[in-house]
Amino acid sequence: MMTGQGTLAVVIGGGNGIGEETARLMAERGWRVVIADRDPAAADRVAADVGGAAVTLDIADAAAVDAACAAIEAAHGPVGALVVAAAVFQDVLPPAELPLAVWERTVQVNLSGTYYANRAFGTRMAHHGRGSIVNIASIAAIGSVPVHAYASSKAAVVSLTLNLAGEWGRAGVRVNAVSPGSTLVPRVAERIKSGRYAADPAEFTALGRIVQPREVAESIEFLASDRASAITGINLVVDAGWHVAGTWAQYGGVRPAPVRTVTPAGAAG
Ligand SMILES: NC(=O)c1ccc[n+]([C@@H]2O[C@H](COP(=O)([O-])OP(=O)(O)OC[C@H]3O[C@@H](n4cnc5c(N)ncnc54)[C@H](O)[C@@H]3O)[C@@H](O)[C@H]2O)c1
Repeated sequence: MMTGQGTLAVVIGGGNGIGEETARLMAERGWRVVIADRDPAAADRVAADVGGAAVTLDIADAAAVDAACAAIEAAHGPVGALVVAAAVFQDVLPPAELPLAVWERTVQVNLSGTYYANRAFGTRMAHHGRGSIVNIASIAAIGSVPVHAYASSKAAVVSLTLNLAGEWGRAGVRVNAVSPGSTLVPRVAERIKSGRYAADPAEFTALGRIVQPREVAESIEFLASDRASAITGINLVVDAGWHVAGTWAQYGGVRPAPVRTVTPAGAAG
């Protein structure tokens, strides 16, 4: 399936995790990919693997985002798709113990950075009359979780996405969000291994398992591509059913699968 057709895609936060997986999938599907990340070694590694370009960028620096956007267009031509996957995370803390500096940096990177990137790339896309933006929010945006700065910043990313979808729709620019649940990127695998979650995240999903990075990348690439040509302003949740199963804990949790008594048609026995 070659859905990219040589279109230029910029993946901010493409040096690791979901952004990296998205960059790899897009390259496989025929997109030309630029990996922008705060971590130059990570951006270089992924760019080398996918035959793309690497840009070092702190998304929280509006002037740097504007400059990178102009430089990417000058070097590679108009950008057809933008994926914003860069974010910072926080420890689980009550408000009185959460340093204000952490609150401010989280909002600055996750919300303001996403706005700076949408503003820079989206405005140019609107002038070109074509483009697609996918902002990565989180299931934390629609639930209640004890990471107050992170979750609030992600809820605001969903709101920003809806607003900009309305803003640029007539200019031919689609803006959507993808909200992953717990996804087994190396960072999350490390948290599970070191016992930093109180319980296995898989226990709280309807499907009884964690999300794989490739499954999130598939949704991002779909929304970026022309296969989603009539879709704008949505928040696509990719969480293995975390938001539907969480409330079942009060009733004893999600029921296990029943013992299979029906044999598939045509099977012996
Ligand atoms: N992994 C999950 O379980 C999960 C769940 C819900 C939402 N998300 C969201 O998915 C996105 C990707 O998360 P991930 O788990 O792959 O994270 P990750 O830490 O594996 O990768 C994030 C990348 O963003 C880069 N980055 C961080 N701050 C940056 C900045 N200021 N400027 C530029 N680049 C920066 C990092 O260097 C890194 O390469 C994030 O928006 C995150 O909030 C992840």
